[in-house]
Amino acid sequence: MSQDGALETLLHEDRVFRPLPQMVIEANANPQTLDNARRQAAEDPLAYWEEAAKELEWFKKWDKVLDESDAPFYKWFTGAKCNIVHNALDRHIKTGNKNKLAIIWEGEAGDSRKMTYFELYRAVNKFANALRSLGVQKGDRVMLYMPPLPETVIAMLATAKVGAIHTMVFAGFSAKAMRDRISDAQPKVIITADGFYRNGRAVHLKSLVDESLMGPDCDSVETVVVVHRANVQVEMQEARDLWYEELVRAESSESPTESMDSEDMLFLLYSSGTTGKPKGIVHTHGGYQVGINRTLNWVFDIKPTDIFWCTADAGWITGHSYVVYGPLIAGTTTVIFEGHPLYPQADRVWDLIAKYGVTVLYTAPTLVRMLMRFGTQYPKKHDLSSLRILGSVGEPINPEAWVWMYKNIGRSECPLVDTWWQTETGSIMISPLPVSVLKPGSCTKPLPAIEADVVDEKGNPVPPGKGGLLIIRKPWPSMVRTLFKDPERYKKTYWEKIPGVYLAGDMARKDEDGYIWIQGRSDDVMNIAGHRLGSAELESALVAHKAVAEAAAIGIPDKIKGEVAKAFVTLREGFDASDDMVKELKIHIRNELGPVAIVKTIEFRDKLPKTRSGKIMRRVLKAEELGQDVGDISTLED
Ligand code: WT7
Repeated sequence: MSQDGALETLLHEDRVFRPLPQMVIEANANPQTLDNARRQAAEDPLAYWEEAAKELEWFKKWDKVLDESDAPFYKWFTGAKCNIVHNALDRHIKTGNKNKLAIIWEGEAGDSRKMTYFELYRAVNKFANALRSLGVQKGDRVMLYMPPLPETVIAMLATAKVGAIHTMVFAGFSAKAMRDRISDAQPKVIITADGFYRNGRAVHLKSLVDESLMGPDCDSVETVVVVHRANVQVEMQEARDLWYEELVRAESSESPTESMDSEDMLFLLYSSGTTGKPKGIVHTHGGYQVGINRTLNWVFDIKPTDIFWCTADAGWITGHSYVVYGPLIAGTTTVIFEGHPLYPQADRVWDLIAKYGVTVLYTAPTLVRMLMRFGTQYPKKHDLSSLRILGSVGEPINPEAWVWMYKNIGRSECPLVDTWWQTETGSIMISPLPVSVLKPGSCTKPLPAIEADVVDEKGNPVPPGKGGLLIIRKPWPSMVRTLFKDPERYKKTYWEKIPGVYLAGDMARKDEDGYIWIQGRSDDVMNIAGHRLGSAELESALVAHKAVAEAAAIGIPDKIKGEVAKAFVTLREGFDASDDMVKELKIHIRNELGPVAIVKTIEFRDKLPKTRSGKIMRRVLKAEELGQDVGDISTLED
């Protein structure tokens, strides 16, 4: 469990919150709809998904909803032809959405840009043509290393439009982390910006691309496209680097949308696992759009008048699904903010909500806890009455933060939906709807056709109140298809530990009402401020330093970030365990992994606890750290 004592609070949480009658009357899916859908899906899940798919436009209808012949490599809507960009963009141009705002973007300094669906459509077409002129074809990879900008959305959509595969690397990752992803994904083009603003400073980005391209295995990259943003010094390498503005200037604003097979790859997104090598999670055109469309419309009850703000960066799955594709498919207005939520002061989030009349706010517990520290003075300064629904994602939300948000931001009127899902699931899996009865700290029940359960290591359901492993019994359209270039790891990680079911990697418990309470990861993956970081990744970064002999990393509870990393290190002969060494190692980790990898403490040890076969026992270190019983240590070396 990630907060101090939060597990205790979660165990004793018995408050319930009910929706206002008006919400129920007006909802896209009311309790009756939900009940019916659950009943229908329990009998015939494929009929449920087929109906959901019919809400979208396809170039050619599917022959089969689900092909299980090569399970666990499930295929959805086989035989169908489509392109997610058709649904996210092209079709709106023929409707009343044409002149509606697609994007409201605000820069850190308070500058803003707004784009209608028609303007976005034209910009995407121009860039799609430019990508084609650079030789980008169906199936090619295009890497994005972008700050939050309208061009980030344009680049994602343009890539998908021409049938290429986008792979985003969050701008908080290092040049080294980027290089690893380049060598795996082998992109033809990289799209980046000169820099961006964060905390009042201009942060360089292009220079990190240059640095990463100096490494081996980067020959696939033919072109680097650079968007102007922060006016920082940039070195342009002739024949390789091009300015975005110059590239698109002469292009036509019409561009055909490639017709894709339903199962053609849409994007690749790297996520931490239990080994040092991030997993390349594969999503496709057909099923992914069905999952995000249904969940956005039901979980966030999207109406034509909504202004939707999901605070995630587009570089994470939450950004892919609920900043970019979901809101655009729904034809709503998506808000994108470049800067830091505390800049220039701690009311920036509330200021944005009031300024643009945000109606739905989807954010992370870590941000709520950060803003909570400042009390209610800041939210009280702003008119937040436009809000009607709140959402949380990324880690368990402690009831204290939930109730604070519900009362002080949501006026005790806006439902706060706690949505559980993962990069692998593509869209929300376990979540209430705004019409559901809520319990603070619980993501409530699986959505229709999602057969989630809590089981023991053999796969047998555990009784209510008891902790166990979170699994999903049946496939769903927006699921991960495979791990890029590593189908074996896909099978082993998700489908074989408990044969035939999807293993999520989380611990959970069900209560007497069937509500699910997520307790945190069951594997050696940390969840720092809602972002995954593998212990093994941190450790391999550490041992890459000349002074480090061995390292072990664990997650420890943190009041704001949920979890932070602590590293235990043994030094090589001739190196001193000094404060300077701590500093040096922290800088080293930042260089290796980027600012996303926050290591709070580094402790030096003469040796680390190991099994007789030489495996470091992180579990023992963690128990020691938390003052808990270390459990079975019979395999410990001495
Ligand atoms: C892990 C997935 C797609 C969400 C953003 C993170 C944790 C996510 C919740 C929640 C408790 C949650 C889980 C999950 N998580 N949402 N509502 N309550 N825990 O995506 O990086 O793929 O991480 O985030 O541990 O396995 P991700």
